[in-house]
Amino acid sequence: MNGAAACMRRAIELAKTAWGRTAPNPMVGCVLVKNGRIIGEGYHHRAGEFHAEVEALRSCKCDPVGAAAFVTLEPCSSTGHQGPCTEALIAAGISRVTVGSLDPNPAHAGRGLEILRQAGIQVSTGVCREACEELNYPFFKWITRHRPYVVLKMAMTLDGRIATSSGDSKWITGEEARGDVQHLRKLAGAILIGSETARIDRPQLTVRDVPDWPCQPKRFIAGHAELPGFTSIDLADEASWNSFLAELASEECLMLLIEGGGELAGRALQAHVVDEAVFYVAPKLLTGRGSRPVTGGKDPEKLTDALDLDEFRTKYFGGDLRISGYIKGGWADVYRHR
Ligand SMILES: NC(=O)c1ccc[n+]([C@@H]2O[C@H](COP(=O)([O-])OP(=O)(O)OC[C@H]3O[C@@H](n4cnc5c(N)ncnc54)[C@H](OP(=O)(O)O)[C@@H]3O)[C@@H](O)[C@H]2O)c1
Repeated sequence: MNGAAACMRRAIELAKTAWGRTAPNPMVGCVLVKNGRIIGEGYHHRAGEFHAEVEALRSCKCDPVGAAAFVTLEPCSSTGHQGPCTEALIAAGISRVTVGSLDPNPAHAGRGLEILRQAGIQVSTGVCREACEELNYPFFKWITRHRPYVVLKMAMTLDGRIATSSGDSKWITGEEARGDVQHLRKLAGAILIGSETARIDRPQLTVRDVPDWPCQPKRFIAGHAELPGFTSIDLADEASWNSFLAELASEECLMLLIEGGGELAGRALQAHVVDEAVFYVAPKLLTGRGSRPVTGGKDPEKLTDALDLDEFRTKYFGGDLRISGYIKGGWADVYRHR
């Protein structure tokens, strides 16, 4: 395979094979290249199992001595469930290591690279950096801030409505967009909905597109409603949000997905707990002053009170448009501009 970027893109693809299955570990992929050919590939399947580098070495079809390794995340240099990957790479005689993203944990950052360099291995960084980092924002926030990464997902009509006044909301978006939500949900260690949504929709909020999905999210209701399998919580102020998020993090939840309704969405945004917004816009105009809006909460006085988004991205799913962005001032925005 030619080109460092192409090798790293393959490593990213491999890392994503374990999408949603690695928590509390990051998703990591690795490709080994010798004489212009891929001789080994690997990814981290789940916590407690081999790391991507070791998987790649184990898959080698020929002697890896002198090969180049392309890894999406800085190789670990400490012993956890597995030995340090730096040692495995050195022992295998790898001559060059290209790393996509650095380990954000200040206790480790750069240490793995330094160990490799001291062993005489050529090390370079930053190939496909942004894509490698985005792969692991939930892990990065959790490991550095001890809080889950918070994503707000909403589906709305072009005129910003999520349901009729009576609460009829099935379905605003089509199958492809709902399939994408299933994909996003696989990353969620926990899901939160408002009490009105719990009462009207009685949703399951499980991952259903993979039979027997092993990492179903914990489910929570903000406010006063009860559903089997859900825990009700009060998130009335900053302190209660903070203790909820701290508790989730302590239970190794890397990502919280807020799935509406509008009142909860508005209150979460106004509490400044959301890192990323993912909105699906259907080509529909619901109309009606009483139709439920995509965000509630308190009424801002000035337009300058609006939250800005960074890195606004769009992608079609069938006829629906997904628009996403990082909330300015949120963890992801600050991390991206560090
Ligand atoms: N299209 C979509 O993406 C989407 C997604 C979800 C739901 N929906 C639809 O949206 C409608 C419901 O939305 P909605 O805006 O009317 O209501 P909602 O956000 O589901 O629920 C609002 C209620 O939740 C509780 N709550 C919200 N935030 C809280 C917080 N921070 N702390 C404590 N409690 C909190 C409060 O009730 P208490 O009185 O219990 O405290 C509040 O009145 C339904 O029709 C549903 O079908 C659409």
